Amino acid sequence: MIGLRLGIFTETAMDGSLRFQTGSCLSLAILCCALTASAYCRPLSSYDGQVDKLLQQMTLEEKIGQMTQAELDHIRDLNDIWRFQLGSVLCGGDSDPKAGNGLEAWTQAYEDCQAQTLKTRLQIPLLFGVDAVHGHNNVLGAVIFPHHIGLGCTRDPGLVELIYRVTAQEIRATGINWSFSPCVTVPQDIRWGRTYEGFSEDPALVELLGQAAIRGLQGQDLGGPLSVLACAKHYLADGGTKAVVTIGRDGRQVARLDQGDAQMDEATLRRIHLRPYIGAVKAGVGSIMPSYSSWNGIKCSGHRYLLTDILKKELGFEGFLISDYNAINQIDPDYKAAIAKSINAGMDMAMVPNQYRQFFTLLRQLVLEGQVPMERIDDAVRRILRVKFAMGLMDKDRSLMADRTLWQSFGGQAHRQLARQAVRQSVVLLKNDGHCLPISKRARIHVAGRGADNLGMQCGGWTITWQGRPGNLVPGGTSILCAIRNTVDRSARVTYSADGSGAEGAQVGVVVVGEQPYAEGLGDNADLSLDQQDIETVKNVKAAGIPVVVVLLSGRPLIINEILEMADAFLAAWLPGTEGQGVADVLFGDYNPTGKLSFTWPASMDQVQGRSGKPLFEYGFGLTY
Ligand code: BGC
Ligand code: BGC
Repeated sequence: MIGLRLGIFTETAMDGSLRFQTGSCLSLAILCCALTASAYCRPLSSYDGQVDKLLQQMTLEEKIGQMTQAELDHIRDLNDIWRFQLGSVLCGGDSDPKAGNGLEAWTQAYEDCQAQTLKTRLQIPLLFGVDAVHGHNNVLGAVIFPHHIGLGCTRDPGLVELIYRVTAQEIRATGINWSFSPCVTVPQDIRWGRTYEGFSEDPALVELLGQAAIRGLQGQDLGGPLSVLACAKHYLADGGTKAVVTIGRDGRQVARLDQGDAQMDEATLRRIHLRPYIGAVKAGVGSIMPSYSSWNGIKCSGHRYLLTDILKKELGFEGFLISDYNAINQIDPDYKAAIAKSINAGMDMAMVPNQYRQFFTLLRQLVLEGQVPMERIDDAVRRILRVKFAMGLMDKDRSLMADRTLWQSFGGQAHRQLARQAVRQSVVLLKNDGHCLPISKRARIHVAGRGADNLGMQCGGWTITWQGRPGNLVPGGTSILCAIRNTVDRSARVTYSADGSGAEGAQVGVVVVGEQPYAEGLGDNADLSLDQQDIETVKNVKAAGIPVVVVLLSGRPLIINEILEMADAFLAAWLPGTEGQGVADVLFGDYNPTGKLSFTWPASMDQVQGRSGKPLFEYGFGLTY
């Protein structure tokens, strides 16, 4: 009940914030969230009375089923859900319902999966997981929020909590009850393709915002109708791996960091990478995802000391561990041995997208052969069931069907306004010579660059598809070009060219350039220089003899020295998502920039590679008007 009231209140508050430039109404909502959130945290183990009663009735097969998570795409026949008594289903970044990718298809897919559980003896509902890492980003029409790197620049836990509260609401509109977020990585090398999934290079900021995200998703009570199970990931030191640099076939450097090896002593591991997990456990996170990566050569997904000794015993984590996508396969070339190692190390549920049948059979054998003790199985299942009880999943009247009344607010104006607010707060002003910004709403403006009318570039990876895609892939969003057109007075004149040609006669140029979308290892990059094509675009506008404002869309700091010099003003907009209006708010002074860098901005690739020297901009830098 309280969760429901909070949801409605939040909506109202956000409507209010449309009219509030100061955001005072927004802060009120934030305050209330924070107050109610502090009441949260009934320990998961307090459900053990009910859990153990159920556990005692379960057969080995029923227990192993609970530990198994298959991917919807790979479940050829939905009857496999009851046949293998699956505990969970996921849709990964590229896994969409067969019926399509809209709200209705997703909701139906959720309900069809849940309906299968009614055919099992114990009828335990499923946890259904997706990567909602910046909004409910797999679903067409969802609001896409800035990626974490931008949210880090806001330094605003209240805002992050609200973003995840709204995300939870959009997730629940499809019935889904679990998100593999927040990512609480602490990236230490921006060549890594997942840098943007991190709030900051600073562990304290990651901890603060990670806790806020967990409160937002899980609400003040995991059992609330708008609550979604959170998952802190990827444990541990996914952002601390050492770059493996080689020379590619084209003679250029290749740097591989994703799923690599974090080579460091335990004190460093704890100081930098463990800290967000201490906060996550305190905030009551119900699930944690061990990383593909290794610590000093040993895979985290099979690391008993990290999973059991530190996380479960020392930190007192009472929820469950979900392995990453096929991560168990990487522990040992022999799949059966890999399963034994991982489960014995403390893994509770296995993300086995396509190999779920094999996993089920092999784990059963391992238990019968005594290679995985029954106590370990019981511990894993107890942890999973604790969460299911805490979430109220066992109440089938509530959990088998989605609440379709939530469709009304899905992708709606109130949610978009919150995202717009997040964009305004995340943009960082790096340069503003001669008061170039803010731009007059009556000016003649030439907009240029391939990012200017490109929602795909604004959103980056993990948007509709796993890798994301340039172009207009999401409905309902506002590109920066559209936002500029929406903002100027009728007397203004806005022209546009992708390559910067035709800027003559304008009073100011706005050039939007940056990175093309990517996710995970495909985003690892040894050379973070801005693309030559983008540099040419800036040069073309500059050649018109007008002041130039550069807006950079990127998942990390890039090497920008050359265009920074040419630019009169420079905004780092990160990957802002669908609400480009937030960028225009800053460009035209409807919002005075407040964003502060969440990462140090390097002056050269040498510096990224570890050479010392003065960065281009220090951590925390950010100008205002
Ligand atoms: C990623 C995770 C993600 C999972 C499921 C993996 O490849 O590392 O972050 O949660 O896939 O999509
Ligand atoms: C899935 C992603 C996953 C990736 C891992 C993709 O096909 O859609 O969710 O992270 O594979 O390799």
